[in-house]
Amino acid sequence: MSYIITGKVYQAENTQGIPNLVITAFDHDLIGQPDRLGETTTNQQGEFTITYSEKDFQDQLFEVNPDIYIVVKTADASKILHSTQKTIRRQASKNEHFDIPIPQKILDADAVDAKPLLKLLIGVAWIDGELEPGEVTYLQQLATTKGLSNDPEIASLLSNKQTVSAQQAYDWVQAYLGTNPSPQKFVELDEALESLVASDTVIDEKEKELLAAFADKENRKTTLQQRLGSIFLDANFIAKVTPDTPDSRETARKNLKKGFAYARVPQAIISKFTSAQTNPEVKEDLAYRFLTLNFAPVRKEITADNLEVIGKLPQDLSGMFFRIGPNPRFAPLGLYHWFDGDGMVHGVNIKNGTASYRNRYVRTEGLKIEEKEGRAIWPGLLNLPRFDEPHGMMMKNVANTALAWHHGRLLALWEGGEPYELRVPDLETVGPYTFNDELTFPFTAHPKIDPQTGEMMFFGYQPLAKPYIQYGIVSPEGKIVKTMPIDIPSPISTHDFAITEKYTIFLDMPLALKPMRVMQGKIPLVFERNKPSRFGIIPRHGGEMRWFSVPSCMVYHIVNAYEEGNEVILVAYRMDWTQLFIRDIENPLIFPSTDALLEKVEPELTKLYRWRFNLSTGQVKEEVLDDEVAEFPRINDNYVGRKMRYVYSGLAAVYMERPLFDGVKKYDLQAGTAETKHFGRGRFGGECVFAPRPGGQAEDDGWVLTYVYDAVEKRSELIVLDAQNITAEPVARVLIPQRIPFGFHCEWVSSEKIAKAKR
Ligand SMILES: [Fe+2]
Repeated sequence: MSYIITGKVYQAENTQGIPNLVITAFDHDLIGQPDRLGETTTNQQGEFTITYSEKDFQDQLFEVNPDIYIVVKTADASKILHSTQKTIRRQASKNEHFDIPIPQKILDADAVDAKPLLKLLIGVAWIDGELEPGEVTYLQQLATTKGLSNDPEIASLLSNKQTVSAQQAYDWVQAYLGTNPSPQKFVELDEALESLVASDTVIDEKEKELLAAFADKENRKTTLQQRLGSIFLDANFIAKVTPDTPDSRETARKNLKKGFAYARVPQAIISKFTSAQTNPEVKEDLAYRFLTLNFAPVRKEITADNLEVIGKLPQDLSGMFFRIGPNPRFAPLGLYHWFDGDGMVHGVNIKNGTASYRNRYVRTEGLKIEEKEGRAIWPGLLNLPRFDEPHGMMMKNVANTALAWHHGRLLALWEGGEPYELRVPDLETVGPYTFNDELTFPFTAHPKIDPQTGEMMFFGYQPLAKPYIQYGIVSPEGKIVKTMPIDIPSPISTHDFAITEKYTIFLDMPLALKPMRVMQGKIPLVFERNKPSRFGIIPRHGGEMRWFSVPSCMVYHIVNAYEEGNEVILVAYRMDWTQLFIRDIENPLIFPSTDALLEKVEPELTKLYRWRFNLSTGQVKEEVLDDEVAEFPRINDNYVGRKMRYVYSGLAAVYMERPLFDGVKKYDLQAGTAETKHFGRGRFGGECVFAPRPGGQAEDDGWVLTYVYDAVEKRSELIVLDAQNITAEPVARVLIPQRIPFGFHCEWVSSEKIAKAKR
C-alpha cells in the first residue's frame, strides 16, 4: 500500500506558486525519532508530490499515530523557510495535501543572504561569454525561490541585456565569500554551481574546471578564487565582456607602455587573485641554462677602435654589423628565461678595412628606472607581472630581440611593446619610437621591408581582447599609413610573418597565449597539438583573407615568401611543436626523466620546409627541404618578398643541451644543394647576415657576417665569409676585446644607409 503527500507552496500575498524549493517529508514516531518519508522539489507552479510506502515506517510499533511533517527549504537546501505538521492516523486518507503560504518577508529575509550568491552565479554563468537559455531558466527559478524575482538588479541582469564584466564578477565572488566564509557557504555554492552547470546545454572545459576546484577542500577559498580568476580573466571571456568599442588612441598608447599582455585586465581583480611562486629548483635550472658561460651577461659597455683583424677586411665592405640580445643588468627577480634580459647591442663598425666595436644597453624607460634604483623591479615572462604597476608599468619592455633599419632609423625591437630608437654609430638610446604617437599596438620583432617600395609591414599580437593580431603598414617616409585587425579565433603568440609583392602572410599556429595560466603555476603559453596550424594570406593593403590549414606544427622564423603563377610560396623553419626551450612546459615544476626529455626535445628540432599555397584551388603542398636542423635564416634582403635562391642559416649544435649554432649553412634552393661552414671545435655563432657587395649583381655577391664565440679561448670575434665561397676560411676575423654573449638577431646596415641616418 502506498501513500501520497501532495502540496503547493506559494507566496502568501499573491498565491503565486514558488518553484524549485526543496520539500522534505518525515514523521515523528512515538519516541520522537524522525523517519524520512521522502524529498522532492516544487515544480513551476510550486506543487509537489511525495509517495511513501508502509515499509517506510521503520517500526510499526511506534507508528501508531504518526504526525506528518513537511519542511520547506530553499532551492539549495541551505535554509528552512517553513515547516508544517499534520496529525494523521493510519486509517486516515492515503492522500494528505498541504497548502503552504510563505510570506514575502520570509522570502525577503532569505533574499538578503541569497543575493550575493545569485549574483556570483550570474557571474559564473557568464564564464563562457554568454548567458544560455538553460542558465537563465535556472537562475530565474532560483531568483523566484529566493524571493528575488522582483529585485530590479537581478531582473535586469537576467534580462540578458547587459554583459557582466570581469571586475563585477570578481566583486561578487568577494561579496559572497566575505572575509571568513563558512564551510556551509561552500556547500551552498557547490550545490548551486552543480545545478547551474547542469542547466547549461554545453558543459565546457571552463565549467568543468570550476567544479574541479571544489575537490580541494583544504584550500577551497584560494582554489576557488584562483580558478574563478583564471576563468574570468580568460581571453575569450574578457573579449566577450569588454565593450566592443576599441580603446581610444590615448588609452591604447598608455596600455602599450604598461605591458601589452595584461593592459586590458582590470588590475584590481588580478592582483587579488594572484600570488607569485618561484620554485627554487626551476630557478636554478633556468639560471644554469641562461645565465652561465657565454649566456652570462657582460657588465661593461665599452668602445674599442682599430681592432685586430686576422685576414683582411674587404675595402668595399662598409657599414655596421649588429647583434642584439638579452643582457640582464641586475640580478633577475623570480624565474629567468633567455627572453627576459635587458637588450644590449653589440656593433662593429667597418670602414676602409678597419673595425671598431662598441656595446650599449638599450636604455629603455624600465631599465633607466631600475638603474636609478640599483635593482631589478620587473620580473620576466615566466613570472606574474607587477600588477601593482610600479612607475605605471606591469612589465618592462626589454627591447632585446631584433633590429630594423627603416627611414633612416635603427630600431631595437621586442614583440611585446614599442620599438626603441638607437643613434648610429654610437648606439645611444634615443627613446621609444612611437611613429609620432600613431603606434597603438605591440610591434613585432620581425617587420618586413619591401626592398622595392620601401614600405615596412608590421604586426602585433595581444591576448586579452579581439583583435588578437593587428597589422600595420609604415610608408617609406616612416608614417603608419594603415592598420587593420587580423581575425583569428583565439589568442596566440606569433613571432614572424611574411610578405610577397602583393600579399602579407600571417601564421596562426596553435601556440596559445593564456597569461592566466601563471596563476596555476604554469607557463602562460601552451602548444595545443590537437589544433591545426594555419597560414593566412591577405592582399598587402587589405582585402579578402584566405586561410590555409596544414597539420599541426610550429614556425618561429620565416625565410621568405614570393609569388609564382597562382601560387604563394613560403619557406620557413618548421618544428612539430614547441615548448620554448623549457624542459616540460606543461609541468614546469616537474623534472622529466632523461627518456621523457629526449622525447620532448625531438619535436623542437627545426627543419627547412616549403609550402605552396594555390590561390586558385585552395590546395596547399608541404615539403621538407632539408633534414638537418638549423634556424635563424637570412637571405639577401633585396629579395624579401621575391623569389630567392640562397638562404643562410645557423646550423644547430644539436648535441648541446642549450640552443647553440656551430656553423652556417648556405642553401641553393634552385640547385637543391647546400654547403656548410663549421666554425670549428668549441666555436659557436649565431644568426648569419648577408651583406651585399655595393654594386654587386649576383644574389650571393657579398659577405656573410656573424659573431663567433670561442669557448676555449673565451673570446668573441666577428667573422666575415665570402658568400660565394662560404666553405673557405673567413676573409676576415675581427677580434673583439670583450666577450659577446649569445644573443638573438643580427643586422647589417651599410655606410650608405648610415649616411642618411635621421639621428
Ligand atoms: Fe626572431
